[in-house]
Amino acid sequence: MTTAVNTHNNYIGGEWVPSRSGRVFENRNPANRDDVIGFFQESTPEDAAAAIEAAARAYESWRLVPAPRRAEILFAAAQLIAERKEQFARDMTREMGKVLEETRGDVQEAIDMTYFMAGEGRRQYGQTVPSELRDKFAMSVRQPLGVCSVITPWNFPMAIPSWKIAPALVCGNTVVLKPATHTPLSAVNFVRVLEDAGVPPGVVNLVTGGADVGTLLSTHEQVRVVSFTGSTAVGRLVSQNAAPAFKKVHLEMGGKNVVMIMDDAQLELALEGCLWGGFGTTGQRCTAASRVVVHEKVYDRFVTEFAARAQALRVGDGLDPDTQMGPSISEAQLETVMRYVGIGKGEGARLVTGGNRLTGRAHARGWFHAPTIFADVEPSMRIAQEEIFGPVVSVIRCRSLEEAIAIGNGVAYGLSASIYTRDINNAFAAMRDLDTGIFYVNAPTIGAEVHLPFGGTKATGNGHREAGTAALDVFSEWKSIYVDFSGRLQRAQIDTHDL
Ligand code: UN1
Repeated sequence: MTTAVNTHNNYIGGEWVPSRSGRVFENRNPANRDDVIGFFQESTPEDAAAAIEAAARAYESWRLVPAPRRAEILFAAAQLIAERKEQFARDMTREMGKVLEETRGDVQEAIDMTYFMAGEGRRQYGQTVPSELRDKFAMSVRQPLGVCSVITPWNFPMAIPSWKIAPALVCGNTVVLKPATHTPLSAVNFVRVLEDAGVPPGVVNLVTGGADVGTLLSTHEQVRVVSFTGSTAVGRLVSQNAAPAFKKVHLEMGGKNVVMIMDDAQLELALEGCLWGGFGTTGQRCTAASRVVVHEKVYDRFVTEFAARAQALRVGDGLDPDTQMGPSISEAQLETVMRYVGIGKGEGARLVTGGNRLTGRAHARGWFHAPTIFADVEPSMRIAQEEIFGPVVSVIRCRSLEEAIAIGNGVAYGLSASIYTRDINNAFAAMRDLDTGIFYVNAPTIGAEVHLPFGGTKATGNGHREAGTAALDVFSEWKSIYVDFSGRLQRAQIDTHDL
Protein backbone atom coordinates (compact mmCIF):
# COMPACT_ATOMS: atom_id res chain seq x y z
CA MET A 1 0.00 0.00 0.00
CA THR A 2 1.40 3.39 -0.89
CA THR A 3 -0.19 6.37 0.73
CA ALA A 4 1.04 9.90 0.20
CA VAL A 5 2.53 11.33 3.37
CA ASN A 6 1.21 14.84 3.79
CA THR A 7 2.59 17.74 5.76
CA HIS A 8 -0.10 19.55 7.74
CA ASN A 9 0.13 23.19 8.72
CA ASN A 10 -1.17 25.15 11.65
CA TYR A 11 -4.40 27.07 11.18
CA ILE A 12 -4.03 30.66 12.34
CA GLY A 13 -6.33 33.57 11.48
CA GLY A 14 -8.02 31.54 8.75
CA GLU A 15 -4.77 30.52 7.00
CA TRP A 16 -3.00 27.17 6.96
CA VAL A 17 0.56 28.20 7.78
CA PRO A 18 3.82 26.46 8.72
CA SER A 19 5.52 27.01 12.07
CA ARG A 20 8.20 29.64 12.38
CA SER A 21 10.44 26.86 13.68
CA GLY A 22 10.68 25.34 10.21
CA ARG A 23 10.44 21.99 11.95
CA VAL A 24 7.85 19.23 11.77
CA PHE A 25 7.23 16.10 13.79
CA GLU A 26 6.00 12.80 12.44
CA ASN A 27 2.87 10.96 13.34
CA ARG A 28 3.12 7.16 13.15
CA ASN A 29 0.61 4.37 13.42
CA PRO A 30 0.91 2.69 16.86
CA ALA A 31 -0.17 -0.63 15.30
CA ASN A 32 2.58 -0.39 12.70
CA ARG A 33 5.45 1.96 13.29
CA ASP A 34 6.47 1.76 9.59
CA ASP A 35 3.27 3.55 8.64
CA VAL A 36 3.88 7.31 8.68
CA ILE A 37 0.56 9.14 8.73
CA GLY A 38 1.84 12.64 8.23
CA PHE A 39 4.11 15.45 9.32
CA PHE A 40 2.82 18.17 11.62
CA GLN A 41 4.18 21.52 12.68
CA GLU A 42 6.51 21.53 15.65
CA SER A 43 5.27 24.91 16.75
CA THR A 44 6.98 27.46 18.96
CA PRO A 45 5.48 29.70 21.64
CA GLU A 46 5.59 32.49 19.01
CA ASP A 47 3.25 30.47 16.78
CA ALA A 48 0.93 29.98 19.74
CA ALA A 49 1.04 33.72 20.49
CA ALA A 50 0.14 34.52 16.87
CA ALA A 51 -2.84 32.16 17.16
CA ILE A 52 -3.96 33.79 20.43
CA GLU A 53 -3.69 37.25 18.87
CA ALA A 54 -5.73 36.13 15.86
CA ALA A 55 -8.32 34.69 18.23
CA ALA A 56 -8.40 37.92 20.24
CA ARG A 57 -9.02 39.98 17.09
CA ALA A 58 -11.72 37.61 15.84
CA TYR A 59 -13.43 37.75 19.22
CA GLU A 60 -14.38 41.39 18.71
CA SER A 61 -16.81 40.48 15.94
CA TRP A 62 -17.65 36.86 16.79
CA ARG A 63 -19.04 37.79 20.20
CA LEU A 64 -21.57 40.03 18.42
CA VAL A 65 -22.80 37.38 15.98
CA PRO A 66 -26.22 36.32 17.30
CA ALA A 67 -25.98 32.99 19.09
CA PRO A 68 -28.59 31.32 16.83
CA ARG A 69 -26.47 32.30 13.84
CA ARG A 70 -23.32 30.92 15.49
CA ALA A 71 -25.33 27.78 16.10
CA GLU A 72 -26.26 27.45 12.42
CA ILE A 73 -22.58 27.14 11.63
CA LEU A 74 -22.30 24.39 14.24
CA PHE A 75 -25.30 22.57 12.73
CA ALA A 76 -23.56 22.70 9.35
CA ALA A 77 -20.35 21.43 10.96
CA ALA A 78 -22.14 18.50 12.58
CA GLN A 79 -23.61 17.56 9.21
CA LEU A 80 -20.19 17.68 7.57
CA ILE A 81 -18.64 15.48 10.26
CA ALA A 82 -21.48 12.99 9.70
CA GLU A 83 -20.76 12.99 5.96
CA ARG A 84 -17.05 12.41 6.54
CA LYS A 85 -17.48 10.02 9.46
CA GLU A 86 -16.04 6.91 7.87
CA GLN A 87 -12.87 8.62 6.63
CA PHE A 88 -12.38 10.40 9.95
CA ALA A 89 -12.76 7.10 11.82
CA ARG A 90 -10.20 5.40 9.59
CA ASP A 91 -7.74 8.27 10.01
CA MET A 92 -8.25 8.07 13.76
CA THR A 93 -7.72 4.33 14.01
CA ARG A 94 -4.54 4.74 11.99
CA GLU A 95 -3.11 7.44 14.23
CA MET A 96 -4.52 6.33 17.57
CA GLY A 97 -4.94 2.56 17.31
CA LYS A 98 -8.38 1.92 18.80
CA VAL A 99 -10.64 -0.31 16.72
CA LEU A 100 -12.75 1.12 13.93
CA GLU A 101 -16.01 0.54 15.75
CA GLU A 102 -14.69 2.71 18.58
CA THR A 103 -13.27 5.45 16.38
CA ARG A 104 -16.66 5.63 14.65
CA GLY A 105 -18.07 6.13 18.14
CA ASP A 106 -15.53 8.87 18.84
CA VAL A 107 -16.52 10.72 15.64
CA GLN A 108 -20.19 10.15 16.51
CA GLU A 109 -19.57 11.73 19.90
CA ALA A 110 -18.24 14.81 18.09
CA ILE A 111 -21.35 14.87 15.88
CA ASP A 112 -23.62 14.52 18.91
CA MET A 113 -21.83 17.23 20.86
CA THR A 114 -21.79 19.65 17.94
CA TYR A 115 -25.53 19.17 17.34
CA PHE A 116 -26.26 19.45 21.05
CA MET A 117 -24.34 22.71 21.42
CA ALA A 118 -25.87 24.06 18.21
CA GLY A 119 -29.22 23.61 19.92
CA GLU A 120 -27.95 25.77 22.77
CA GLY A 121 -27.72 28.68 20.32
CA ARG A 122 -31.43 29.21 20.86
CA ARG A 123 -31.34 28.56 24.60
CA GLN A 124 -28.46 29.64 26.84
CA TYR A 125 -31.20 30.52 29.27
CA GLY A 126 -30.65 33.17 31.86
CA GLN A 127 -32.94 34.21 34.67
CA THR A 128 -35.48 36.97 35.00
CA VAL A 129 -36.52 37.63 38.56
CA PRO A 130 -38.82 40.15 40.25
CA SER A 131 -37.03 43.19 41.60
CA GLU A 132 -37.51 44.18 45.21
CA LEU A 133 -38.15 47.71 43.94
CA ARG A 134 -40.92 49.19 41.84
CA ASP A 135 -40.45 49.83 38.13
CA LYS A 136 -37.21 47.93 38.02
CA PHE A 137 -36.29 44.92 35.91
CA ALA A 138 -33.77 42.25 37.00
CA MET A 139 -32.20 39.52 34.87
CA SER A 140 -29.03 37.56 34.23
CA VAL A 141 -27.45 36.71 30.88
CA ARG A 142 -24.53 34.53 29.82
CA GLN A 143 -21.58 36.44 28.41
CA PRO A 144 -18.61 34.98 26.51
CA LEU A 145 -15.17 35.45 28.04
CA GLY A 146 -12.84 35.82 25.07
CA VAL A 147 -9.98 33.59 23.94
CA CYS A 148 -10.16 29.99 25.15
CA SER A 149 -7.14 27.66 25.08
CA VAL A 150 -8.16 24.09 24.45
CA ILE A 151 -5.58 21.41 25.22
CA THR A 152 -6.71 17.89 24.35
CA PRO A 153 -5.46 14.30 24.79
CA TRP A 154 -4.95 11.51 22.29
CA ASN A 155 -7.48 8.96 23.55
CA PHE A 156 -10.56 10.74 22.18
CA PRO A 157 -8.94 12.73 19.38
CA MET A 158 -12.12 14.24 17.92
CA ALA A 159 -14.71 13.84 20.66
CA ILE A 160 -12.80 15.81 23.28
CA PRO A 161 -11.90 18.78 21.03
CA SER A 162 -15.61 18.94 20.15
CA TRP A 163 -16.63 18.86 23.83
CA LYS A 164 -14.67 22.03 24.37
CA ILE A 165 -14.81 23.88 21.05
CA ALA A 166 -18.55 23.53 20.34
CA PRO A 167 -19.69 25.09 23.64
CA ALA A 168 -16.92 27.71 23.49
CA LEU A 169 -18.12 28.84 20.06
CA VAL A 170 -21.84 28.83 20.71
CA CYS A 171 -21.22 31.02 23.76
CA GLY A 172 -19.35 33.51 21.57
CA ASN A 173 -15.72 32.81 22.49
CA THR A 174 -12.83 32.18 20.14
CA VAL A 175 -10.45 29.24 20.42
CA VAL A 176 -6.87 28.09 20.09
CA LEU A 177 -6.63 24.29 20.00
CA LYS A 178 -3.48 22.33 20.83
CA PRO A 179 -4.11 18.64 20.26
CA ALA A 180 -1.91 15.84 21.60
CA THR A 181 1.11 15.21 19.38
CA HIS A 182 0.03 11.57 18.93
CA THR A 183 -3.28 12.49 17.27
CA PRO A 184 -3.01 15.76 15.34
CA LEU A 185 -4.70 14.46 12.17
CA SER A 186 -8.09 14.08 13.86
CA ALA A 187 -7.76 17.66 15.13
CA VAL A 188 -6.92 18.88 11.62
CA ASN A 189 -9.96 16.98 10.31
CA PHE A 190 -12.19 18.62 12.90
CA VAL A 191 -10.85 22.13 12.30
CA ARG A 192 -11.22 21.72 8.52
CA VAL A 193 -14.87 20.89 9.08
CA LEU A 194 -15.32 24.07 11.10
CA GLU A 195 -13.61 26.06 8.35
CA ASP A 196 -15.80 24.45 5.67
CA ALA A 197 -18.94 25.03 7.74
CA GLY A 198 -18.22 28.77 7.72
CA VAL A 199 -16.52 29.55 11.02
CA PRO A 200 -14.93 32.96 10.28
CA PRO A 201 -11.12 33.40 10.17
CA GLY A 202 -9.49 33.57 13.60
CA VAL A 203 -12.46 32.19 15.49
CA VAL A 204 -10.85 28.75 15.68
CA ASN A 205 -7.09 28.31 15.47
CA LEU A 206 -4.99 25.15 15.58
CA VAL A 207 -1.39 24.93 16.74
CA THR A 208 0.32 21.55 16.92
CA GLY A 209 3.35 21.01 19.10
CA GLY A 210 4.66 20.14 22.51
CA ALA A 211 4.74 21.33 26.10
CA ASP A 212 6.10 24.83 25.44
CA VAL A 213 3.05 25.55 23.27
CA GLY A 214 0.82 24.32 26.11
CA THR A 215 2.66 26.52 28.58
CA LEU A 216 2.10 29.60 26.47
CA LEU A 217 -1.56 28.72 26.01
CA SER A 218 -2.01 28.59 29.77
CA THR A 219 -0.06 31.75 30.59
CA HIS A 220 -0.64 34.27 27.78
CA GLU A 221 -2.35 37.38 29.07
CA GLN A 222 -5.01 37.41 26.37
CA VAL A 223 -6.27 33.95 27.25
CA ARG A 224 -9.30 33.95 29.53
CA VAL A 225 -10.18 30.25 29.73
CA VAL A 226 -7.98 27.17 29.68
CA SER A 227 -9.78 23.87 29.19
CA PHE A 228 -7.51 20.85 29.59
CA THR A 229 -8.03 17.11 29.48
CA GLY A 230 -5.05 14.90 30.29
CA SER A 231 -2.99 13.60 33.16
CA THR A 232 -3.30 14.89 36.69
CA ALA A 233 0.40 15.88 36.73
CA VAL A 234 0.05 18.09 33.64
CA GLY A 235 -3.31 19.41 34.84
CA ARG A 236 -1.64 20.62 38.02
CA LEU A 237 0.94 22.50 35.92
CA VAL A 238 -1.78 24.06 33.78
CA SER A 239 -3.58 25.14 36.92
CA GLN A 240 -0.42 26.68 38.39
CA ASN A 241 0.43 28.42 35.12
CA ALA A 242 -2.99 29.96 34.87
CA ALA A 243 -3.43 30.92 38.53
CA PRO A 244 -1.47 34.20 38.72
CA ALA A 245 -3.72 35.86 36.12
CA PHE A 246 -6.89 34.25 37.54
CA LYS A 247 -7.78 32.56 34.29
CA LYS A 248 -10.76 30.32 34.38
CA VAL A 249 -9.38 26.80 34.32
CA HIS A 250 -11.33 23.68 33.53
CA LEU A 251 -9.47 20.44 34.22
CA GLU A 252 -10.45 16.90 33.37
CA MET A 253 -7.78 14.46 34.58
CA GLY A 254 -7.11 10.96 35.79
CA GLY A 255 -9.33 8.18 37.00
CA LYS A 256 -9.13 4.88 38.88
CA ASN A 257 -12.68 3.81 38.32
CA VAL A 258 -14.38 0.95 40.09
CA VAL A 259 -16.97 -1.63 39.11
CA MET A 260 -18.61 -3.23 42.17
CA ILE A 261 -20.13 -6.65 41.61
CA MET A 262 -22.54 -7.81 44.31
CA ASP A 263 -23.48 -11.42 44.99
CA ASP A 264 -26.90 -10.94 43.39
CA ALA A 265 -25.50 -9.48 40.16
CA GLN A 266 -26.29 -10.93 36.77
CA LEU A 267 -22.81 -12.32 36.35
CA GLU A 268 -22.95 -12.62 32.58
CA LEU A 269 -23.85 -8.95 32.28
CA ALA A 270 -21.11 -7.97 34.72
CA LEU A 271 -18.52 -9.98 32.81
CA GLU A 272 -19.41 -8.35 29.52
CA GLY A 273 -19.35 -4.96 31.18
CA CYS A 274 -15.95 -5.48 32.78
CA LEU A 275 -14.46 -6.70 29.52
CA TRP A 276 -15.69 -3.61 27.67
CA GLY A 277 -14.95 -1.23 30.54
CA GLY A 278 -11.46 -2.59 31.22
CA PHE A 279 -10.16 -3.33 27.75
CA GLY A 280 -12.17 -1.03 25.49
CA THR A 281 -9.81 1.60 24.01
CA THR A 282 -7.02 -0.69 25.32
CA GLY A 283 -7.82 0.62 28.79
CA GLN A 284 -6.78 4.10 27.68
CA ARG A 285 -9.84 5.95 28.89
CA CYS A 286 -9.98 8.17 31.91
CA THR A 287 -13.24 6.34 32.59
CA ALA A 288 -11.69 2.85 32.21
CA ALA A 289 -12.91 0.19 34.65
CA SER A 290 -9.45 -0.48 36.00
CA ARG A 291 -10.66 -1.85 39.37
CA VAL A 292 -13.28 -4.53 39.87
CA VAL A 293 -14.44 -5.21 43.41
CA VAL A 294 -16.26 -8.54 43.62
CA HIS A 295 -18.34 -10.03 46.41
CA GLU A 296 -16.66 -13.12 47.86
CA LYS A 297 -19.64 -15.34 47.04
CA VAL A 298 -19.15 -14.88 43.30
CA TYR A 299 -15.46 -13.98 43.33
CA ASP A 300 -13.88 -17.25 42.13
CA ARG A 301 -16.40 -17.75 39.34
CA PHE A 302 -15.97 -14.18 38.22
CA VAL A 303 -12.17 -14.29 38.16
CA THR A 304 -12.04 -17.56 36.18
CA GLU A 305 -14.56 -16.38 33.60
CA PHE A 306 -13.14 -12.86 33.32
CA ALA A 307 -9.64 -14.21 32.71
CA ALA A 308 -10.88 -16.64 30.06
CA ARG A 309 -12.68 -13.89 28.18
CA ALA A 310 -9.82 -11.41 28.39
CA GLN A 311 -7.41 -14.04 27.12
CA ALA A 312 -9.69 -14.71 24.15
CA LEU A 313 -9.74 -11.06 23.03
CA ARG A 314 -8.23 -10.65 19.57
CA VAL A 315 -5.52 -8.00 19.79
CA GLY A 316 -4.24 -6.34 16.64
CA ASP A 317 -4.57 -3.58 14.08
CA GLY A 318 -7.80 -1.70 14.71
CA LEU A 319 -8.47 -1.42 10.97
CA ASP A 320 -8.92 -5.20 10.80
CA PRO A 321 -12.62 -5.86 11.48
CA ASP A 322 -11.75 -8.98 13.51
CA THR A 323 -9.66 -7.02 16.01
CA GLN A 324 -11.22 -6.43 19.41
CA MET A 325 -8.39 -4.52 21.11
CA GLY A 326 -5.74 -2.29 19.55
CA PRO A 327 -2.25 -1.25 20.66
CA SER A 328 -1.07 1.19 23.29
CA ILE A 329 -0.61 4.67 21.85
CA SER A 330 3.18 4.69 22.01
CA GLU A 331 6.30 2.89 23.10
CA ALA A 332 6.41 5.01 26.25
CA GLN A 333 2.82 4.09 27.13
CA LEU A 334 3.56 0.41 26.52
CA GLU A 335 6.57 0.71 28.82
CA THR A 336 4.36 2.22 31.50
CA VAL A 337 2.02 -0.75 31.19
CA MET A 338 4.91 -3.20 31.46
CA ARG A 339 6.33 -1.33 34.43
CA TYR A 340 3.02 -1.57 36.28
CA VAL A 341 2.78 -5.28 35.50
CA GLY A 342 6.16 -5.62 37.22
CA ILE A 343 4.95 -3.51 40.14
CA GLY A 344 1.82 -5.67 40.50
CA LYS A 345 3.86 -8.86 40.56
CA GLY A 346 6.26 -7.33 43.05
CA GLU A 347 3.37 -6.34 45.31
CA GLY A 348 2.18 -9.96 45.40
CA ALA A 349 -0.95 -9.66 43.27
CA ARG A 350 -1.90 -12.84 41.37
CA LEU A 351 -1.49 -12.50 37.61
CA VAL A 352 -4.34 -14.52 36.09
CA THR A 353 -3.94 -13.64 32.42
CA GLY A 354 -1.69 -11.55 30.20
CA GLY A 355 1.21 -9.72 31.73
CA ASN A 356 3.32 -9.65 28.61
CA ARG A 357 4.01 -7.59 25.55
CA LEU A 358 2.83 -9.19 22.30
CA THR A 359 5.61 -9.63 19.78
CA GLY A 360 4.38 -12.26 17.29
CA ARG A 361 4.19 -11.65 13.56
CA ALA A 362 0.95 -9.64 13.69
CA HIS A 363 2.29 -7.55 16.55
CA ALA A 364 5.94 -7.12 15.72
CA ARG A 365 5.68 -3.57 14.38
CA GLY A 366 3.31 -2.10 16.99
CA TRP A 367 2.97 -1.36 20.70
CA PHE A 368 0.81 -4.31 21.70
CA HIS A 369 0.27 -5.70 25.17
CA ALA A 370 -1.85 -8.67 26.21
CA PRO A 371 -5.07 -7.95 28.12
CA THR A 372 -3.93 -8.36 31.71
CA ILE A 373 -5.79 -9.19 34.90
CA PHE A 374 -4.46 -9.28 38.42
CA ALA A 375 -6.61 -11.01 41.06
CA ASP A 376 -6.30 -10.95 44.85
CA VAL A 377 -5.28 -7.32 44.63
CA GLU A 378 -5.19 -5.42 47.91
CA PRO A 379 -6.90 -2.01 47.70
CA SER A 380 -3.73 -0.25 48.84
CA MET A 381 -1.46 -1.72 46.17
CA ARG A 382 -0.11 0.71 43.62
CA ILE A 383 -1.82 -1.14 40.76
CA ALA A 384 -5.12 -0.47 42.55
CA GLN A 385 -4.32 3.17 43.31
CA GLU A 386 -2.50 4.64 40.31
CA GLU A 387 -3.85 5.26 36.85
CA ILE A 388 -2.09 2.93 34.41
CA PHE A 389 -3.91 3.90 31.18
CA GLY A 390 -3.49 0.49 29.63
CA PRO A 391 -5.08 -2.98 29.44
CA VAL A 392 -4.55 -3.90 33.09
CA VAL A 393 -7.43 -4.60 35.48
CA SER A 394 -7.14 -5.22 39.22
CA VAL A 395 -9.71 -7.52 40.83
CA ILE A 396 -10.30 -7.04 44.55
CA ARG A 397 -12.36 -9.24 46.90
CA CYS A 398 -15.02 -7.77 49.21
CA ARG A 399 -17.47 -9.15 51.78
CA SER A 400 -20.20 -6.50 51.71
CA LEU A 401 -21.58 -3.48 49.93
CA GLU A 402 -20.15 -1.21 52.62
CA GLU A 403 -16.68 -2.63 52.08
CA ALA A 404 -17.04 -2.30 48.30
CA ILE A 405 -18.01 1.35 48.66
CA ALA A 406 -15.08 2.05 51.00
CA ILE A 407 -12.66 0.43 48.55
CA GLY A 408 -14.31 2.27 45.66
CA ASN A 409 -13.82 5.61 47.39
CA GLY A 410 -10.34 4.78 48.64
CA VAL A 411 -8.39 6.35 45.79
CA ALA A 412 -7.24 9.85 44.92
CA TYR A 413 -9.54 10.07 41.90
CA GLY A 414 -13.30 10.44 41.51
CA LEU A 415 -14.42 10.15 37.90
CA SER A 416 -16.71 7.17 37.40
CA ALA A 417 -18.01 4.16 39.35
CA SER A 418 -20.53 1.41 38.77
CA ILE A 419 -22.46 -1.32 40.55
CA TYR A 420 -23.87 -4.59 39.30
CA THR A 421 -26.75 -5.69 41.50
CA ARG A 422 -30.42 -6.61 41.27
CA ASP A 423 -31.14 -5.06 44.65
CA ILE A 424 -32.56 -1.57 44.24
CA ASN A 425 -31.59 -0.58 47.79
CA ASN A 426 -27.95 -1.48 47.15
CA ALA A 427 -28.03 0.40 43.86
CA PHE A 428 -29.39 3.59 45.41
CA ALA A 429 -27.06 3.46 48.40
CA ALA A 430 -24.04 3.09 46.14
CA MET A 431 -25.33 5.80 43.81
CA ARG A 432 -25.44 8.17 46.76
CA ASP A 433 -22.21 7.18 48.48
CA LEU A 434 -19.63 6.86 45.70
CA ASP A 435 -17.65 10.09 45.59
CA THR A 436 -17.49 10.35 41.79
CA GLY A 437 -18.85 12.63 39.08
CA ILE A 438 -20.42 9.75 37.12
CA PHE A 439 -22.20 6.61 38.31
CA TYR A 440 -23.62 3.63 36.47
CA VAL A 441 -26.03 0.89 37.52
CA ASN A 442 -25.66 -2.43 35.70
CA ALA A 443 -23.29 -0.93 33.15
CA PRO A 444 -19.52 -0.41 33.17
CA THR A 445 -17.79 2.88 34.04
CA ILE A 446 -17.41 4.01 30.43
CA GLY A 447 -19.94 5.32 27.96
CA ALA A 448 -21.02 8.79 29.01
CA GLU A 449 -23.50 10.53 26.72
CA VAL A 450 -22.92 14.11 25.57
CA HIS A 451 -25.97 15.78 27.06
CA LEU A 452 -25.16 15.17 30.73
CA PRO A 453 -22.29 16.75 32.68
CA PHE A 454 -18.98 14.89 32.38
CA GLY A 455 -16.22 15.15 34.95
CA GLY A 456 -15.07 14.03 38.33
CA THR A 457 -14.30 14.84 41.93
CA LYS A 458 -11.06 14.90 43.94
CA ALA A 459 -7.88 14.63 41.81
CA THR A 460 -9.94 14.07 38.65
CA GLY A 461 -11.13 17.63 38.31
CA ASN A 462 -11.36 21.11 39.75
CA GLY A 463 -15.09 21.41 40.22
CA HIS A 464 -16.11 22.10 36.64
CA ARG A 465 -17.96 19.81 34.25
CA GLU A 466 -17.89 19.58 30.52
CA ALA A 467 -20.61 18.29 28.17
CA GLY A 468 -24.29 18.94 28.76
CA THR A 469 -25.41 22.43 29.61
CA ALA A 470 -22.80 22.36 32.42
CA ALA A 471 -20.22 23.12 29.72
CA LEU A 472 -21.85 26.51 29.24
CA ASP A 473 -20.74 27.38 32.76
CA VAL A 474 -17.11 26.84 31.73
CA PHE A 475 -17.36 28.92 28.58
CA SER A 476 -19.52 31.80 29.75
CA GLU A 477 -19.83 34.12 32.71
CA TRP A 478 -22.96 35.49 34.26
CA LYS A 479 -23.81 39.13 33.98
CA SER A 480 -26.62 40.34 36.22
CA ILE A 481 -28.45 43.32 34.78
CA TYR A 482 -30.80 45.73 36.58
CA VAL A 483 -32.88 48.22 34.65
CA ASP A 484 -34.55 50.93 36.69
CA PHE A 485 -37.38 52.57 34.73
CA SER A 486 -38.89 54.49 37.69
CA GLY A 487 -37.15 57.74 36.87
CA ARG A 488 -35.95 58.22 40.44
CA LEU A 489 -33.18 56.96 42.68
CA GLN A 490 -34.24 53.74 44.35
CA ARG A 491 -31.82 52.19 46.79
CA ALA A 492 -31.74 48.41 47.05
CA GLN A 493 -32.21 47.06 50.58
CA ILE A 494 -33.17 50.58 51.81
CA ASP A 495 -36.10 51.96 49.81
CA THR A 496 -37.89 48.65 49.73
CA HIS A 497 -40.72 49.53 52.11
CA ASP A 498 -42.52 51.90 49.66
CA LEU A 499 -45.42 49.71 48.57
C1 UN1 B 1 -12.06 9.98 28.37
O1 UN1 B 1 -11.73 8.83 28.64
O2 UN1 B 1 -11.25 10.91 28.43
O3 UN1 B 1 -17.59 7.97 28.87
C2 UN1 B 1 -13.40 10.31 27.87
C3 UN1 B 1 -16.73 7.57 28.10
C4 UN1 B 1 -16.48 8.32 26.81
C5 UN1 B 1 -15.56 9.46 27.03
C6 UN1 B 1 -14.32 9.14 27.77
N1 UN1 B 1 -17.75 8.79 26.30
O4 UN1 B 1 -16.05 6.60 28.35
